[in-house]
Amino acid sequence: MPQQDIKLISTSSHPSFAQKVAEQLNEEMVPTELFEFSNDNMMFKILESVRGSDVFIISTQAPPVHKNLWEAILAIDAAKRASAKRVTAVLPYFPYARSDQEDQPRISIGARCLNSCLESCGADRVLTTDLHSDQIQAFFSPEHQCDQLKATRLLCNYLSNNLVLEDYVLVAPDPGAVNMIQGYQNKLGLPLAIIDKRRDDNQDKPQAANVVGEVEGKNCLIIDDEVSSGGTLMEAAELLKEKGANKVVATCVHPVLGADAPEKIPESEIDKLITTDTIPTKNKEFDKLEVKTVTNLFANAIKRINKGESISSLFN
Ligand code: R5P
Repeated sequence: MPQQDIKLISTSSHPSFAQKVAEQLNEEMVPTELFEFSNDNMMFKILESVRGSDVFIISTQAPPVHKNLWEAILAIDAAKRASAKRVTAVLPYFPYARSDQEDQPRISIGARCLNSCLESCGADRVLTTDLHSDQIQAFFSPEHQCDQLKATRLLCNYLSNNLVLEDYVLVAPDPGAVNMIQGYQNKLGLPLAIIDKRRDDNQDKPQAANVVGEVEGKNCLIIDDEVSSGGTLMEAAELLKEKGANKVVATCVHPVLGADAPEKIPESEIDKLITTDTIPTKNKEFDKLEVKTVTNLFANAIKRINKGESISSLFN
């Protein structure tokens, strides 16, 4: 596609993230308005022409997820109906990503439903970061490509510059995380331990049953994609300390920090949690939390997509 004007649209889920992306691209946000009616219905309106433009709708999916999601869908529809040349849904955090397979009888697969909505409402592309599982990309047809950026390099640079890494062991908080952790292991070159995590039902109550690998007398660096209830991290940290670990530092890309996680994590065995700003942490801050921005990663990807340049170097 010949290069079109970039038009950036933010929904109301994380305007400060969208604003930072805009500043890094030297672009203004397109003015919009969201109408919320007394029957709980909404309408999204774009207040200037986007005809023939390359539109990027920046909409992370923090709680309240369903309101934010529907606003994103309405914004995509509005841009498409306003004759945008191409519409990219920029979802720094892709919701329902943990619902990606039929691992119980008669259940919904939320990530697949969302993929269908995005495609049918007019999203030509999706740009996201650190999906819970890579297979979600395969839900999208080639005509509706889903690009997955990774915060691995940003987090590894921070870790290398701020921790004495030779004292650390990388810890996968469950066997499913081993694949994701490989990118960190390649960059940091640390030994690996794996937590045997169990979930007996659909409650947010994981149990860390055992740890495979040497952690006694070591500092541990747990790598996870998201922290939701915080149960996975807190259980893991407790077990690691029981097994003789010294310090337990954790990183995650998506700080969902739901339920009472912001109150419980500071009281837990986790010594520090390093995360990114894919989800707003306003009113959820605590002393042990450190937030690094991925807005430059997204700005870079948007610039390259617009120019038709490769973005594969941003995938690891
Ligand atoms: C699970 O497989 C994920 O990688 C995370 O460990 C999980 O989403 C964290 O959830 P929570 O904080 O509720 O334990």
